[in-house]
Amino acid sequence: FLKISGGVAAGAGASLAGVSTAEAKEVEVGRTTLPYPHKVVTRTRELKVNVPVNFNFPDASSPCTLIKMGRAVPGGVGPDQDIVAYSTLCTHMGCSVSYDTATRAFRCPCHYSTFDAELSGQMICGQATEDLPQIVLQYDSKSDTVTAVSVEGLIYGRQANVL
Ligand code: FES
Repeated sequence: FLKISGGVAAGAGASLAGVSTAEAKEVEVGRTTLPYPHKVVTRTRELKVNVPVNFNFPDASSPCTLIKMGRAVPGGVGPDQDIVAYSTLCTHMGCSVSYDTATRAFRCPCHYSTFDAELSGQMICGQATEDLPQIVLQYDSKSDTVTAVSVEGLIYGRQANVL
């Protein structure tokens, strides 16, 4: 029995090894990755330090908030590298988080998860286990515009950020 099962296992392993490479290629080829739309969110001259600006990205059902932090932060764009944006759907169960100007953090009213707006949406405490998805921004000095171009992390409730 051992000889037979060993032979079968070896055979299966060999065929799996052969198939897995081919299947991996098929998965890569067959994977659908839709491009992000680019969305102009604001002009830097319209921003005030620590005053949040709400918008939706990459579509109308995905609320986000942009903030000029007033000092350079990870992922920050603009002349001072201080403008960041995040999805405002809590990564725990999808409640809407809101920006707290006093602590410079996003707070969830449902189970009190808190996310650091100055540290890439890092989870500080609470029920969530994932950081807030950070919106990737681009700044154009000629037009003074801040544009949302993609998302780091998975927006709550989605299998892909772009539907
Ligand atoms: Fe935000 Fe539970 S939904 S902590």
